[in-house]
Amino acid sequence: MIRKAEFVVSNTNPAKCPKADRAEIAFIGRSNVGKSSLINMLTGVKELAKTSQKPGKTQLINHFMIDNRWYMVDLPGYGFAKVSKDKKEKWEVMISEYLTKRSNLCGVFVLIDSRLEPQKIDLEFLHWCGDQGVPFALVFTKADKLSKSQTDKNVKGFLGKMEDIFGEIPDHFVTSSEKSTGKDELTSFIEELVAE
Ligand code: GTP
Ligand code: MG
Repeated sequence: MIRKAEFVVSNTNPAKCPKADRAEIAFIGRSNVGKSSLINMLTGVKELAKTSQKPGKTQLINHFMIDNRWYMVDLPGYGFAKVSKDKKEKWEVMISEYLTKRSNLCGVFVLIDSRLEPQKIDLEFLHWCGDQGVPFALVFTKADKLSKSQTDKNVKGFLGKMEDIFGEIPDHFVTSSEKSTGKDELTSFIEELVAE
């Protein structure tokens, strides 16, 4: 159970992140998929991470200190159509630096919108994680938006793709930040990761 969550720092330069002296996990995924909302749901602090109906809200690498013990990180999303080429390239450099060089990173959670068919951009990103050896698990978001059977169908479809690509099904969670679905399961998994 998470008891305390505090904002630490935002920055664009992975080299300027807080000292890598404690375990860290991060959330990534398409713009608007619900990364910041998930952080608020998991920590129980309503406006800890800034959210918006408009994609592209989170622009920086945001560190939150959890229980004075480990870091949870909110990252800017990918795949936001209205972004200039220059900005997109900057994002790629920042994120790839962060994901491949952050020495205390124990796991990355790639968020997938549970309403959608597998999206090319998500599959490409997951391919890249696999190639780079970035350890990831999947979090399907917004499970309150469709019926359980529709959500299950989409999740199953996505996991099938994972099996095709990686030959195995990654750890995965189905969540709703609106309804706190999946909170306990995901929290336990993360707490085990950061305790290792
Ligand atoms: P960027 O920072 O732009 O990359 O987006 P993000 O992935 O952090 O998304 P954010 O948490 O800001 O949420 C985007 C929108 O989706 C907001 O309007 C949220 O209220 C909504 N949202 C997020 N999670 C859920 C959910 O589980 N259920 C529902 N119904 N809406 C959600
Ligand atoms: Mg965000």
